[in-house]
Amino acid sequence: MGKKKPILRNMGGCLKDCVPATILSPVTISLEALLEVFIPLLMATIVDGGLYRAEEFKLKPFFSAALIADRNRFVITVGCIMILAALFSFAFGCLSARFSAVASMGFAANLRAKLLKKIQSFSFANTDRFTPASLVMRCTSDVNSMQSSFQELIRNMVRAPMMMIFAIIMSFSIDSQLAWIFVVCLPVLFVTIALIVSTGRRRFKLVLGRYDDLNARVREGLIAQREVKAFVREDFEKERFTKTNHQLRIAQVNSEKIFMLSGPIQMLTMWLCTVVILYVGGSNIIFGRSSLQAGELISIVTYTGQVINALSMVSFMVLNLARTAESLKRINEVLDEETDIRDGEGDFPVADGSVRFENVSFSYTGDPNNLALEHIDLDIASGETVGVIGGTGEGKSTLVSLIPRFYDPIAGRVLVGGRDVKDYRLHALRQGVSMVLQNGSLFSGTIAENLRWSDENAADGELRAACAAACADEFIDKMPQGYDTVLGQGGVNLSGGQKQRLRIARALLKKPKILILDDCTSAVDNATDIRIRAALRHALPGATKIIIAQRIASVMDADRIVVLSHGCVADVGSHDELMERCSIYRDIYDSQQKGREEKAGEAYAR
Ligand SMILES: Nc1ncnc2c1ncn2[C@@H]1O[C@H](COP(=O)(O)OP(=O)(O)OP(=O)(O)O)[C@@H](O)[C@H]1O
Ligand SMILES: [Mg+2]
Repeated sequence: MGKKKPILRNMGGCLKDCVPATILSPVTISLEALLEVFIPLLMATIVDGGLYRAEEFKLKPFFSAALIADRNRFVITVGCIMILAALFSFAFGCLSARFSAVASMGFAANLRAKLLKKIQSFSFANTDRFTPASLVMRCTSDVNSMQSSFQELIRNMVRAPMMMIFAIIMSFSIDSQLAWIFVVCLPVLFVTIALIVSTGRRRFKLVLGRYDDLNARVREGLIAQREVKAFVREDFEKERFTKTNHQLRIAQVNSEKIFMLSGPIQMLTMWLCTVVILYVGGSNIIFGRSSLQAGELISIVTYTGQVINALSMVSFMVLNLARTAESLKRINEVLDEETDIRDGEGDFPVADGSVRFENVSFSYTGDPNNLALEHIDLDIASGETVGVIGGTGEGKSTLVSLIPRFYDPIAGRVLVGGRDVKDYRLHALRQGVSMVLQNGSLFSGTIAENLRWSDENAADGELRAACAAACADEFIDKMPQGYDTVLGQGGVNLSGGQKQRLRIARALLKKPKILILDDCTSAVDNATDIRIRAALRHALPGATKIIIAQRIASVMDADRIVVLSHGCVADVGSHDELMERCSIYRDIYDSQQKGREEKAGEAYAR
């Protein structure tokens, strides 16, 4: 059996800049608790020494005989001490609240940063394993849960036990017989709360699972909002949401039902203890069976409340920790994840744009019987323009994703600039390769900010040149704000074709050694596609260009065209060579030609 890892193994370092606040919070709150315990004693002193003028009362040795003799002055003096104690207790309480907030927020910010750093080191395969939605939940709601528990912990971990111990000591110093009454009740109360926590914890785990379901449902519904409306599936979505929401409600009610019991049980115990203490203490005073004073009886009742209050703090803390343990587990899963893609050792840039695949095989699942690419051998010279053609799902995107090391092959090697991609530092490799992803994104911000994403120092003239090469200038110039037009999240306020052109311009700005365009003119019209191709021919002279396209017209003037079929290279050659010898290529060409003729025929008939 494997050794169980400590649950807090990844939390080291998250406290770095908040250690002082983490220490000061329990210190100040302990001082507050100390004063809170002192106040009932002052109350007993006022009642017994000032009002009842008893011979013996608590704290008598601390006051002079003259002061005790002057009743008014005595009450006012003790009253002032009491106010002072209350004020200090308030000040320490405020300080502790501030320290605990500073410490817990700093801790959460550091933890979020640690998670983000780890997630950024993830390969696509790592991200696929968790799913982006789950990673978002772990960085937000799970960290929030950790933050509130941490705050709770540093406030009450010291305060509650201290308050309980002080209050018990004070009660025993006043009257041990009465103190025993509530001390006997404590274990009973403790066991009851422990039972509630253990049952509640199991039920609460289910609640967290239901929360995940609800979040996934809401996210999916919102992200696919357009599809939901286009397919008129609002009722179906509503029904699915209602079902998940209902399941969450049932789970919550079940868990709260048990947790809610702890409050009334504590109150019942407190009032029972109070009644018994008042009865026993009151009769002792009335029948003169002990030296107990009325004020002391009142202070014991107050201590009973304080002890039970402290116990409820502990139980609340335990409940919260039970909840947080689940979040911590989820956070640990992310931080413990082994990153598939490790940085290479070599400290060199990409020397030239040559790319070589040496007997490369790849599987998304790591299973050699389920290959997305099989025994690929391909040599692309630096500065060459290569088209990649093949049916949908044949492995085109997969092939190019191995060049910037989004994934590693399970067999064979990929070489860029004459070196194995695994030898490069990822930053250097990706600096040399620019890829326009098939389903890439834009970000909220201005068009210029989006373009400068690949080169933050690019001059305005360079932005314009890149946009001209991607035929993006024509629509940007028509916008009233031009390059300062603000894009919504993901570039929602642009059309599909406009987004594609901006993404091409962004990739050009990086001035890479290798430019990869993955089906990124699919949403632009034929005429614009032709103009983009013509412009790209002159853009980035000397760079290798790999162009994946659905339309043969988009790649037919490339130096060579690679035909992919079922994850294998079926053939490589120029358009004319392939037309002559590659039946797959000819079939694609014929089907596209036929489609064009049919469209022309329809237009003619109209
Ligand atoms: N992230 C992934 N996880 C698992 N399998 C995947 C993943 N991405 C792609 N695949 C599978 O790998 C195969 C090749 O996919 P790929 O995206 O390379 O095809 P493609 O040729 O680019 O297709 P298209 O022309 O539709 O873009 C497909 O069968 C696909 O189902
Ligand atoms: Mg693809």
